[in-house]
Amino acid sequence: MLLLNASEVKKLLPMKEAIEADKRAFLLHSAGATEVPVRSGFEMPGRGTVLFMPAYVKGDIGRAGIKIVSVFPGNRDKGLPVVPAQVLLTDPETGEVAALINGSEVTRIRTGAISGAATDILARKTSSVAALFGTGGQAPSQLEAILCVRPVKEVRVYDSLECRIVPFIEDNKAIAEKYGAKLAAAKSPDAAIDGADIITTATTSKEPVFDGSRVAPGAHVNAVGSFTPEARELDEALLNRARVFVDNSEAVLAEAGDFLIPASSGAYDIKNIAGEIGDVLAGKLAGRGGEKEITVLKTVGYAVLDVVAAYQIYKNALERGVGTEIDIQ
Ligand SMILES: NC(=O)c1ccc[n+]([C@@H]2O[C@H](COP(=O)([O-])OP(=O)(O)OC[C@H]3O[C@@H](n4cnc5c(N)ncnc54)[C@H](O)[C@@H]3O)[C@@H](O)[C@H]2O)c1
Repeated sequence: MLLLNASEVKKLLPMKEAIEADKRAFLLHSAGATEVPVRSGFEMPGRGTVLFMPAYVKGDIGRAGIKIVSVFPGNRDKGLPVVPAQVLLTDPETGEVAALINGSEVTRIRTGAISGAATDILARKTSSVAALFGTGGQAPSQLEAILCVRPVKEVRVYDSLECRIVPFIEDNKAIAEKYGAKLAAAKSPDAAIDGADIITTATTSKEPVFDGSRVAPGAHVNAVGSFTPEARELDEALLNRARVFVDNSEAVLAEAGDFLIPASSGAYDIKNIAGEIGDVLAGKLAGRGGEKEITVLKTVGYAVLDVVAAYQIYKNALERGVGTEIDIQ
């Protein structure tokens, strides 16, 4: 079994390649070449949630895998990751576990790449101003993914914990400069989104994080954060103005309060969701309808993305001789 730690994973799957891996996952899912049960979760009251996310990816990958990911908010006080995770990738010939891969890093890269892929597919080509909500563990890869696919010059950063904004900007200045962009602290959600071409939300908020009626015509929004029926980052004002896509309909409709909350009050009709982003990539569904249309991608993530990313990381590791082999027989 090959062990791959966080720093190895980071080097093995750069963002551009991760975006291509996510697109491949979306296409395989659209072609029906995946089996992916909705994830099973166990609530541990007062501590957190442990989620098991299996998937079988057919086609030329032909591998099954699972991510075990936990969300334990109290870990921050212990200096541990709030969302620790590992990915197990199996061998298609023997069924043995071929690799154990740092799943926190796989999650960060493939989740950034979801927004990168969606932005590449849906955002206007000339998008130059972006807004980023949330400065936590997912934020750096969300930032890099956007910069990878559009000629963004300014990214406005907002977090409801204001004290986190400037340190985030300091820590991620180099990523922005690499792509010729500047990071600016936004004083309010309105200041972040006014005139923005691309808006990404990667927060732990339970309430909408900005006023959807203020979003500029033609903007594209990636909503990454909420993953329970009780939490949402988007309001119905935005959903009712936009052409809305999801990464995985079944998972989103089971988990995303962004839709379930306004649907239960009659403020949004989930029949208005256009469909899955993979179907746009496959040419089965129209994407952006014009320069003035607002587009939205809501993701809750699904294990096919982890298995495809893990496969690409494993393949690159074997080619480059990276990682530690262990024998547990
Ligand atoms: N879609 C996916 O595939 C996927 C994958 C991984 C994580 N996630 C989700 O992404 C979210 C972010 O993850 P993380 O690891 O960065 O979390 P984190 O706890 O490290 O950071 C979250 C940040 O959001 C900020 N925040 C909370 N409410 C806000 C608001 N109203 N406006 C602006 N900022 C606000 C917090 O202050 C914090 O800085 C989580 O909800 C996580 O479950 C989604």
